[in-house]
Amino acid sequence: MNIAVIGTGYVGLVGGTCFAEMGNQVTCVDIDVDKVTTLQNGRLTIYEPGLEVFFERGIRENRLTFTTDLADALEPADVVFLALPTPPAEDGSADLQYVLGVADHIGQLLAANPHWGYKVLVDKSTVPVGTAARVTAAVEAHGLASGVHFDVVSNPEFLREGAAVEDFMKPERVVIGTSSPRAAETMHRLYQPFVRSGNPIILMDEASAEMTKYAANALLATKITFMNEIANLCDRVGADVDHVRRGIGTDSRIGPKFLYAGIGFGGSCFPKDVQALHRTAREEGYEFRILKSVLDVNEDQKKTLVPPVLDTLADARGRLDGRRIAVWGLAFKPHTDDVREAPAHVLIREFVSRGAEVVAFDPEAIETTRATFAREPLAGTGTLRYAESAYAAASGADALIVATEWPEFRRPDLGRVRESMRTPLVFDGRNVFEPAQMVEAGFAYRSIGRPTPEACTLDAETSAPLAPEALSSFTISETG
Ligand code: UDX
Repeated sequence: MNIAVIGTGYVGLVGGTCFAEMGNQVTCVDIDVDKVTTLQNGRLTIYEPGLEVFFERGIRENRLTFTTDLADALEPADVVFLALPTPPAEDGSADLQYVLGVADHIGQLLAANPHWGYKVLVDKSTVPVGTAARVTAAVEAHGLASGVHFDVVSNPEFLREGAAVEDFMKPERVVIGTSSPRAAETMHRLYQPFVRSGNPIILMDEASAEMTKYAANALLATKITFMNEIANLCDRVGADVDHVRRGIGTDSRIGPKFLYAGIGFGGSCFPKDVQALHRTAREEGYEFRILKSVLDVNEDQKKTLVPPVLDTLADARGRLDGRRIAVWGLAFKPHTDDVREAPAHVLIREFVSRGAEVVAFDPEAIETTRATFAREPLAGTGTLRYAESAYAAASGADALIVATEWPEFRRPDLGRVRESMRTPLVFDGRNVFEPAQMVEAGFAYRSIGRPTPEACTLDAETSAPLAPEALSSFTISETG
């Protein structure tokens, strides 16, 4: 089939590349000239495991091209994907200006070119319920000639960053929302090769498909947040959230995934989608109370390590001057360079504002972090610099924070890390280490929702803030 993909962000670029890999003819469109030039020159604009091979093959075999000209892509296309940004507006609702702007442009082009034939227009972005109807109205507003036929389909995307290619090529399900049998047939044909293993293509109306995407993300965000609250409570009663996770995850009604407690969810989807669904409900006169709690708890969760860090390292005024804090991980999760809503950034802002010297390392997300802090500068008297490796970041630090569970952070040479740190203090925001292993390695250790074995707790003296000179004599209790 001939496919146009409008918008070359994560979803558009991954989708376009994967459709080309399946043998379709794909043209990707973007208004960003620099981005299109980069892609035309065979260079990827995002990091996504496995994408490069398909991308290079698509270009080499001429099945994948890039342009800034919507008309060029639209004319031959059977299916047109709208993979445009839907950022949260001030009030938390999804901002549809890009989606509706492109729909309007498509309407103009179709009205002027009635001979271009039938098109299926697909909302791929996560858009509020009712958007398919608004896109249809925006296209029709151009008074299309009687020969022009098109349908608008909602086809939400469930791919995870870092596993996007795998998720796209082998989706657990494909959701197609349309009331047009002709569009349903076209979409079925397009997706059939992706579900050879027998996974379902689920057909429904447009509004239900739109709601399905929000319901999935909101439920997953709720699941994580619920576990984070269980972890917070475990901390208080001396229970271990890891045991609880295994205990409940074996219940098939609950399932083992997305039960990992940590310093909160981030990314471009969960925060934005939960907020948008909450907003939609409110507009309909319904207060979706769980979602409001999820958002509030998650904001607090990102700062859950701040009080223990201050308790151990800050002076009486809550200042961290003279303290060096290492941060391992900047991306909102492993295997991506995406730092949107990343918990690590919230922590860095907090420490820098209190005068700390922060030294950060991430295998992929240093450049994106630099760009973010260039746009939205850090406030305060502290500093942030980037290290070339995890070890270099930890060297000389008074505390090490693990903010993202990159695999390479899981099995470092702990002896080397401890020796190089000024104070062997580890705050594990993603529970990547075993508490007992950290005790043995000689660290003072704290994680999320798991008891710290006695021998690993800070010396009794240290429950009060450490004076700078006390750092050199900072000790770990021998016996507990
Ligand atoms: C998510 C959805 O999974 C995907 O279906 C949708 O299309 C887009 O949003 P993504 O944002 O890429 O994908 O990341 P995901 O892997 O779902 O993780 C989201 C956040 O939750 C991350 O910050 C992650 O660290 C956190 N998380 C995940 C937890 O804290 N605990 C868990 O158990 C799982």
